[in-house]
Amino acid sequence: MALLHTRRLLAAPRFFTAAANHASSWWSHVEMGPPDPILGVTEAYKRDSNSKKMNLGVGAYRDDNGKPYVLSCVRKAEAMIASKKMDKEYLPIGGLADFTRASAELALGENSEAFKSGRYVTVQGISGTGSLRIGANFLQRFFKAGRDVYLPKPSWGNHTPIFRDAGLQLQSYRYYDPRTCSLDFAGAMDDIARIPEKSIILLHACAHNPTGVDPRQEQWKELAATVKKRNLLVYFDMAYQGFASGDINRDAWAVRHFIEQGINVLLSQSYAKNMGLYGERAGAFTVICSDAEEAKRVESQLKILIRPMYSNPPLNGARIAATILNTPELRKEWLVEVKGMADRIIGMRTQLVSNLKKEGSSHNWQHITDQIGMFCFTGLKPDQVDRLTKEFSIYMTKDGRISVAGVTSGNVAYLAHAIHQVTK
Ligand SMILES: Cc1ncc(COP(=O)(O)O)c(C=O)c1O
Repeated sequence: MALLHTRRLLAAPRFFTAAANHASSWWSHVEMGPPDPILGVTEAYKRDSNSKKMNLGVGAYRDDNGKPYVLSCVRKAEAMIASKKMDKEYLPIGGLADFTRASAELALGENSEAFKSGRYVTVQGISGTGSLRIGANFLQRFFKAGRDVYLPKPSWGNHTPIFRDAGLQLQSYRYYDPRTCSLDFAGAMDDIARIPEKSIILLHACAHNPTGVDPRQEQWKELAATVKKRNLLVYFDMAYQGFASGDINRDAWAVRHFIEQGINVLLSQSYAKNMGLYGERAGAFTVICSDAEEAKRVESQLKILIRPMYSNPPLNGARIAATILNTPELRKEWLVEVKGMADRIIGMRTQLVSNLKKEGSSHNWQHITDQIGMFCFTGLKPDQVDRLTKEFSIYMTKDGRISVAGVTSGNVAYLAHAIHQVTK
């Protein structure tokens, strides 16, 4: 039978073969896309057989043995959920109510006027990225005042395609000064003061990715005043609440301050880092509205937007996060654990600088300890990054960004030695 079939194909007239080829080439115009820059770093790291190799590219927390870390409060929440033998029915379009309410409270604070009066809507999103995408699509459909979204320069690499794919236009404002490895506050204020009224501005609430550089509270105050004067729509991306300073309230300070100033912001949240729920995809999108009635209208449209995208969000991560946030003992334990992760990172920054000094480095590395959060913009140049990889098997993105979460007590001296070798 198979032989007969082959013979028939061989004997097929030429037009038949041409038609078959044609049918198999629907996508001949599709060009090979470039690999993801961060995943590319991980691939190269995996191929390296050096036992001292370090992967400082990936943005996920590691414990002091360099291993992925599951929080103890997460394990306990999972056990509680399992013991209740709950069903696996669909969630509502906007997500798990216990989760969205607790997320809004976590971000805004329990005493927030906006929270208490109900002039907000929070929907569950697919972690931070999915929540940003809901926000971007909501802006595309309903923000009639403008198409332009202003991002800090640089910003998280995924911001541009998220907003662009939703049909918005990307602009930028100065943020980081490579000469000082710190905030270009004057440049940022200058640029923001010139942004056309009613444009959209994206701000990282804390632990700016990729630079690790955040404004100080006095600077946030000035930023809020300028943004208000220019009548800009503020979109906060808060992917690291608690993970930056170790204190959830301190990390949410800017978001809360802007709202107190009467700025009705948009907000995306993620539980990937602060609860270590990376693959569970738990996040939230919030719109602060003028009143509760407006919030109801916005909510109805968010549901209409979400329904054809993915119908309703995933259950498990939201259940875990809600259980932690709404169970007093687990919440208490989480606050200790998130502080533990932040403190380990802060400690590694200090150790890296003291080891660089021990090596005899005369450079000013203060920015390493001034910066905050998972990432550090080291100031290393692309050729120095290349040497670190080739000569020391230390992997990071070309822009000199390192994930401090990948540094441990066991490898910090090796890292300092290698950095000194390529910078002296
Ligand atoms: C600034 C920023 N926003 C959003 C995210 C979203 O992450 P996720 O979709 O994993 O929650 C990240 C993760 O690296 C980030 O750094």
